[in-house]
Amino acid sequence: MKKYNIAIVGATGLVGQTFLQVLEERKFPIKNLYLMASSRSAGKKINFMGKDIVVEELNESSFDKDIDIALFSAGGDTSKKFSPIAASKGVIVVDNSSAFRMDDEVPLIVPEVNPGAVFNHKGIIANPNCSTIQSVVPLRVLDEKYKIKRIVYSTYQAVSGSGLAGIKDLENGLAGKPVENYPYQIAGNCLPHIDVFLENGNTKEEQKMIDETKKILRADVKVTATCVRVPVLHSHSVSMNIEFEKEFDVEEVKKDLASVKGLIVEDDVKNNIYPMAINSKGKDEVFVGRIRRDQSLDNGLNLWVVADNIRKGAATNTIQIAELLIAEDKGRKL
Ligand SMILES: NC(=O)c1ccc[n+]([C@@H]2O[C@H](COP(=O)([O-])OP(=O)(O)OC[C@H]3O[C@@H](n4cnc5c(N)ncnc54)[C@H](OP(=O)(O)O)[C@@H]3O)[C@@H](O)[C@H]2O)c1
Repeated sequence: MKKYNIAIVGATGLVGQTFLQVLEERKFPIKNLYLMASSRSAGKKINFMGKDIVVEELNESSFDKDIDIALFSAGGDTSKKFSPIAASKGVIVVDNSSAFRMDDEVPLIVPEVNPGAVFNHKGIIANPNCSTIQSVVPLRVLDEKYKIKRIVYSTYQAVSGSGLAGIKDLENGLAGKPVENYPYQIAGNCLPHIDVFLENGNTKEEQKMIDETKKILRADVKVTATCVRVPVLHSHSVSMNIEFEKEFDVEEVKKDLASVKGLIVEDDVKNNIYPMAINSKGKDEVFVGRIRRDQSLDNGLNLWVVADNIRKGAATNTIQIAELLIAEDKGRKL
């Protein structure tokens, strides 16, 4: 089997560390692995499959070597500066930041939803926002059968979505210490404030869910979102209210959802079975439950969708994109 030279940018971060776990678990065919981060981590050793790899400081010449795919997860500014440099040297970048997601020349991919779009890339492919990824996984099949008119998202997002800094703020808060990352205490609190506020009153996180859903699914779907940070360490939960153009049968919808690869239906309320953050931690699938008709609309449906934001919401989705690339490689340069 052909093996590939892979670079991880942001290798010391929460997502970067999960890349390593997922690459190992999925037996990604790696020839050489290069780990990159800021000057703060340069020289640090990270073990991957029994071998210590020295973290390199990311700089303009980092991609002068033979690298096939670079998985970026080091924030938007780093991606904006270094992804084009990598792409100009023939590296295919799969970027986790929001830097290029809405760029018309950059495919925005969730492999269960729009895998074919991956090959329209010009060197950079974007991984959607964590909340968007888990939300669109159940939507494609429903849109195809019942045509979605409008989606209302309400999110309950884990602190790990803010990286190591978010986890520290929750842990500090529980120990009675002040926060450093969030504007207010997160322990025992819910913050209707993720990322910065925009002129239109949405937060940037809410706008990302709206814009990215339209780009992945269909530009004329109406979408609104309220994103809330909650004192949960791992896994985001999303309440989704969907209005369709066509009529549907709830039992048929459950079968439709059960047919989606990577989506697990957990919906047996008589036995208190529904998706929960504590159960999805460490898993690669998206979980859907509380599947029920919204009685206030002609064709309305409510869903509760949960996924591990660091795995399916970031690392796993990125590596699935890399897997799509190598599956089609068939001996030619990616
Ligand atoms: N957490 C999530 O749920 C999630 C989900 C989807 C996407 N993302 C995105 O993934 C990215 C990283 O998130 P995270 O949660 O892993 O954050 P994190 O734990 O804070 O890690 C940040 C990583 O970026 C590196 N980095 C920072 N500045 C750098 C620079 N100037 N040059 C090179 N490397 C630099 C850090 O290296 P040092 O150790 O040297 O500082 C570290 O490896 C962000 O863009 C975030 O939006 C996160």
